[in-house]
Amino acid sequence: MQLIDGKSLSKKVQANVSTEVEKLKREKNIVPGLAVILIGDDPASHAYVKMKGKACENVGFYSITHNMPDTISQDEIIATIKMMNDNPRIDGILVQLPLPAHIDTQKILEVIDPTKDVDGFHAYNVGRLVSGMDSFVACTPLGVMKMFEGYDIDLKGQDVCVVGASNIVGKPMASLLLNADATVTVTHIYTKDLKSHTLKADIVIVGVGVPSLIKADMVKDGAIVIDIGINRIADGSLVGDVDFDNVSPKCSFITPVPGGVGPMTIAMLLSNTLKSAQRRA
Ligand code: GUN
Repeated sequence: MQLIDGKSLSKKVQANVSTEVEKLKREKNIVPGLAVILIGDDPASHAYVKMKGKACENVGFYSITHNMPDTISQDEIIATIKMMNDNPRIDGILVQLPLPAHIDTQKILEVIDPTKDVDGFHAYNVGRLVSGMDSFVACTPLGVMKMFEGYDIDLKGQDVCVVGASNIVGKPMASLLLNADATVTVTHIYTKDLKSHTLKADIVIVGVGVPSLIKADMVKDGAIVIDIGINRIADGSLVGDVDFDNVSPKCSFITPVPGGVGPMTIAMLLSNTLKSAQRRA
């Protein structure tokens, strides 16, 4: 069993981004800029946004966070996004999800200028991804692809089971895998027999937010298991969606939580924001 070390891989990505930022500053006098919109006081969202801001600082980006109360109106959020669309210092706009129940998430995401949509959530970018065209791609699934690349894992013809069909993770993950010539099964909460699908797969990718959903009897020997879940359990520790202790001995490769996909998500956000700034240059 080999651990896929997202922490060290993300450091390499960040080092590359830093080098490119230096070059952009030197040659074009451009500093990549990221605007984050954070609504409400969900502790997990605050923690993620803090990490994103710190990562921006580390690679030399300009970054701003718009912190708004969860009583804010949809129109006020839209006005803020439009301001960021028109701000030439901003290359990337990220609205931290989930949004409060009274806000129409899809409507908000569609206001973001697709050329600044570094989260890859705008329908323009989703459509381009599905069509196999160059686009901004959601950071978590893009980070998973970077892990496969970093560990020389060839996806062509592999049977991959994606557990979870969210717009943020499962659906873009499935598109990326299809584009890489894998055979993809996507399961979700209405799937009748989850185990029958995961057990057949060469690669299982799970991101649903259910601690220890994937048990040892659900994966075949030699499987590659990618755990996107980050769950805080009663004792305060962080665990993934995979029963790591029992599943890992069966795997050829597995990602840990923490230190797996999480750091890669942030690295891809930096990478996407840099890409946007390079286009501007
Ligand atoms: N909430 C959970 N994951 C993400 C993400 O990748 N981007 C944004 N904007 N919100 C999230």
